[in-house]
Amino acid sequence: MSQMHYHDYLQLDKILNAQSPESDKKNLSAHDEMLFIIIHQAYELWFKQLHHEVDSVAMIMNKPALNDNSPELQTVVHRLKRVITILQVLVHQIDIMETMTPMDFLDFRDILRPASGFQSWQFKQLEAKLGLKFEHRHGKEYYTSQLRDEHVSIIKNAESESSLLQLINSWLERMPLAPALSDDKNSFWQQYRSAYQNSLADVEKQNLEAFDDVFMKNEYATSNHHLSPAANRSALFIMLYRGYPLLQLPFRLLNCLLEIDEQLSSWRYRHMKMVHRTIGTRIGTGGSSGKDYLKAAADKHYIYREIAQLNSFLIERRKLPILPALLENKLGFVHH
Ligand code: HEM
Repeated sequence: MSQMHYHDYLQLDKILNAQSPESDKKNLSAHDEMLFIIIHQAYELWFKQLHHEVDSVAMIMNKPALNDNSPELQTVVHRLKRVITILQVLVHQIDIMETMTPMDFLDFRDILRPASGFQSWQFKQLEAKLGLKFEHRHGKEYYTSQLRDEHVSIIKNAESESSLLQLINSWLERMPLAPALSDDKNSFWQQYRSAYQNSLADVEKQNLEAFDDVFMKNEYATSNHHLSPAANRSALFIMLYRGYPLLQLPFRLLNCLLEIDEQLSSWRYRHMKMVHRTIGTRIGTGGSSGKDYLKAAADKHYIYREIAQLNSFLIERRKLPILPALLENKLGFVHH
């Protein structure tokens, strides 16, 4: 057997022969088209790696009983941290794209029509795996009209499987340590509700209604929520008592999700600014309204918004209800 060689292992024959500027074929001079191709290819390779990480996380989270006190949760957090680091690189790659001036882009822009980054099915599939559903997308018709049928089915398939957001919801719902809901005024949630009520300024009094809606029932009346009240209670509990050893990893996991949203949103924002700088208010090569389309998508596509919004229901540490000793022991490393 021949020895392994760097060139073959990485299949560089394929990768390094996959750049064919359209401007060359048409004998037009457009120096920057090579950069344009390579940067998009680099994005697609990183998207592939993101899928690899997110799929593995979903596989672990999909187990009926993920032990919060096991290496599995650690693996989930570790891989999500990697997802965040890759996303940070993707945001920074826009710096390279921005070295291309509007005039440099005009040299080859018309040749690209109607191709567009919008047709990146890997990007849309990633959004779907993380938890963005078709009905919550901005510009639904435009979205399906621009993609090939086979790519639409890949994305639809991802939408039909349990997304990371749904898996997080089930994981939170089955979290054993969060106190149960009860009408007893000495119970944890009733005490917390009073403390929250007392913390509200006059102009915020209506927040109590929202609090009751989000936490103080068994189920929502409508289905347009991603996290159930039981999941919300666990998530808030994790945020409040994250100092306890058993809740540290769950807290980091929730934070990872918020960070993923933040990085995706930074990417959308930087991409939109770059688009504005490069094509002004012209329509995109994919035929959308360009910057306005991207702005609306950026505002709407926060996947973990409901987790981020739980911050409105926090209270000062010193006002937190005292936990029953038994529960406190369970949350620590003390076993009786
Ligand atoms: C000069 C550089 C770029 C310009 C002018 C540009 C322009 C646009 C425009 C106008 C859209 C909206 C759809 C349309 O009408 O075409 C769009 C969407 C998109 N572009 Fe770019 N783009 C550029 C670079 C990139 C790069 C480097 C990537 C990396 C993969 C990318 C990925 C995307 C994605 C994923 C969308 C869909 C966003 C969504 O639906 O939320 N673009 N782009």
